Amino acid sequence: MNGRDLVRSAKAVGALGAAQGMRAVRAAWRNRRADAAALPSRAGERARVPGLLTGAEPGPGGGVLRFERAELRITVTTGGAVFWGWDGAGPEPSYALAGAPPPPDPRARLEPDKEGGWRVVSERATVAVSRHGAVQVRTPGGVVLRHDLPPRWWEVAPGEPARWVQRTELPADARFFGLGGRSSGPRLRAGAYRLWNTDPGGSFGTGDDPLSLTMPVLMVVADAGTHLVFHDSSWDGSVSLREGEEGAGSGHDRAAGSELRMDGGPLRCWVLVGAPARILGTWTALTGKPAVPPSWALGHHHARWGFGSEEEVRRVAEGYREHGLALDALHLDIDHLDAHRVFTVDTERFPKLPQLAAELLGEGVRLVSIVDPGVRADPAEEVYASGSAAGVFVRDARGREVRGVVWPGETRYPDFTDPRVREWWGARYEERLGRGFAGFWHDMNEPVSFAAFGEATLPRSARHALDGRGGDHREAHNLYALCMARAAYEGLRALRPGERPFLFSRSGWAGLQRYGGTWSGDVATGWEGLRASLSLVLGLGLCGVPYSGPDVGGFDGHPSPELYLRWFQLGAYLPLFRTHSALTAGRREPWEFGAEVLGHARELLAERRRLRPYFMTLAQLAHRAGAPYVRPLWWSAPEDRALRDCEDAFLLGDALVVAPVLQEGARRLRVRLPRGRWYDTATGRCHRGPAGIEVEAPLSRIPVFARAGAVIPVLGPDGGTALEVWAPGEGRSGSGLLVPDTGDGWAEPPVERFTSRQRDGRVTVTRDSGEDPGYPVLVRGL
Ligand code: NOJ
Repeated sequence: MNGRDLVRSAKAVGALGAAQGMRAVRAAWRNRRADAAALPSRAGERARVPGLLTGAEPGPGGGVLRFERAELRITVTTGGAVFWGWDGAGPEPSYALAGAPPPPDPRARLEPDKEGGWRVVSERATVAVSRHGAVQVRTPGGVVLRHDLPPRWWEVAPGEPARWVQRTELPADARFFGLGGRSSGPRLRAGAYRLWNTDPGGSFGTGDDPLSLTMPVLMVVADAGTHLVFHDSSWDGSVSLREGEEGAGSGHDRAAGSELRMDGGPLRCWVLVGAPARILGTWTALTGKPAVPPSWALGHHHARWGFGSEEEVRRVAEGYREHGLALDALHLDIDHLDAHRVFTVDTERFPKLPQLAAELLGEGVRLVSIVDPGVRADPAEEVYASGSAAGVFVRDARGREVRGVVWPGETRYPDFTDPRVREWWGARYEERLGRGFAGFWHDMNEPVSFAAFGEATLPRSARHALDGRGGDHREAHNLYALCMARAAYEGLRALRPGERPFLFSRSGWAGLQRYGGTWSGDVATGWEGLRASLSLVLGLGLCGVPYSGPDVGGFDGHPSPELYLRWFQLGAYLPLFRTHSALTAGRREPWEFGAEVLGHARELLAERRRLRPYFMTLAQLAHRAGAPYVRPLWWSAPEDRALRDCEDAFLLGDALVVAPVLQEGARRLRVRLPRGRWYDTATGRCHRGPAGIEVEAPLSRIPVFARAGAVIPVLGPDGGTALEVWAPGEGRSGSGLLVPDTGDGWAEPPVERFTSRQRDGRVTVTRDSGEDPGYPVLVRGL
């Protein structure tokens, strides 16, 4: 053990307590020994590049190009997605894809170009490959969107994965977004971003990287066009980004660039080109439709690590009721478990959980349960005993169960990459449903195993089934939470076929949206953390995971009333609206921050409820077409450079611009509005975009703007759905969509479309099918 390890060991003992701390020290040693024995050393690696082009063979949607030392397969699929894979890599097997990829586009053809290379020409993109194996994606008009240099591999031994690097040149004006949940975005600046799901261990602020949910999905926005690139390898890696510089017409632009280094996995990649809405539509077709949460999950959730008893949970619910605050869900953290063991209950402090759940349900409040993957290794425990007998736990290279340490002490980890294990795990949610829980909160699933030094996860040499292919934790690590979500989702569907499962997970990977959403994890209490909250939600939405939100108020410490209120104001407009905090942190109930904050929080909760039909419509639209509820301002105008750099406001659907206050003491804001006319919903004043405007942002509210002509489904004064229409200009029209809220279940109601018009000072709304709108109409902005 070196000096640093010693210090970290001492710290672990201090932070976790003597017994847990010592376990963490032993776990760190075990991991180190296991990996040293089982993994090959990197000595003797040989570098390889493709070499010169030797031949081409057309095939469906493109073809195969042969080089001296490598082979490249290119396929353009129907729908316009471009795939390429080196060394025989195809789109499958893949944990990201929702099923078989779309078929090849029969119209795409492979043809030689004038420079001695080849290109695949298709309707939306041209893929040009040079004689040395550089790959360019161009618009049909010939503008270069990305230029991938020939890749380079390093090989140790046959059968062992090769590391590889892919460098890419991008337009000088390119801006980067995505890579999963990042605290320093939404615009990702120059720097290195790691692709390895990691519990930051304690609360995180802007710049802490990586976090729990990484994915190799990058959105690149430039004047030349927008594209999404996905390198389908779950191995550890890192992306280095470089923003470009423009020479102000001097012709001396410095290109932007990215460099992706992966420790293994196939070198294969998808590129989706087009307008952002189209890209997310194609991404959804590839990786799956976002699950629609049940209606209640679009309301307000309150959580806390440290609800000590049923009485305390009741008191919190009563507090919400007495203060006239809308509440839809209460979350029970690990404290309700028996000694922190998954799928158990501490029956002394929570003796009648089903009764509590039923009482709360009577008031419209659901209970949500935390679920951690680590199973306490205790043969007297049914979960462990049955799991061990069925051989569900991850094993080491010698066939022994891998030992880890989490809250319950010594733990074992189900191998969710095994279909048999997923089924076993999914069935365990029956116990949770029986206790009255309606939703599930997956935590510690990066997966975490406390370690005094080294990585706080499983050893890299741990073995996984990988759905029959077999492999180790180097490949399975980033897939662990995704497969856990799948296990829960499929289990819940089998157990309660009539209900839409509600689950959200701290960790995950590309495709997580098929099963549920996510949340920020332990975001630090502070103005930085508030900013990071928005960054995470926006970035994840662009990676296809539209349902997420932060711990409102921050995870640790004590937010000032002002910070708490500003966070609450932001959270009220994000898909997952949840107050939560750590065991040792201050309370997060709205009445803990004084009468003024309480009053504003009450109004916000009422507004959130009023917007429920709009949120449900956005959830349904995300499911059908992939568009996230929360979108960057450049969503409909990626060519607008000022919008691209605007990071502190967002679109909620296409009707609202929300401008949260992210700075202490700020009472006025500069807001950049996209094209169109926008009403300040508080003052009714109309502003014309694109423009930067200055508006009041008193403590009582954050600026929210409604697009002129927008038809927004809301709850009307009588509690039924109504249409709020923001007056279009005289002689002009606008529109809006509604997908009726069926509460729960699998009905897919058709999208109802409405048109608004103003003529002679009168505003009307008609259904596009020509009928009466069918809902009361509330005219605003006249
Ligand atoms: C870590 C999670 O991020 C946090 O939300 C939770 O309260 C604790 N684990 C305890 O379960």
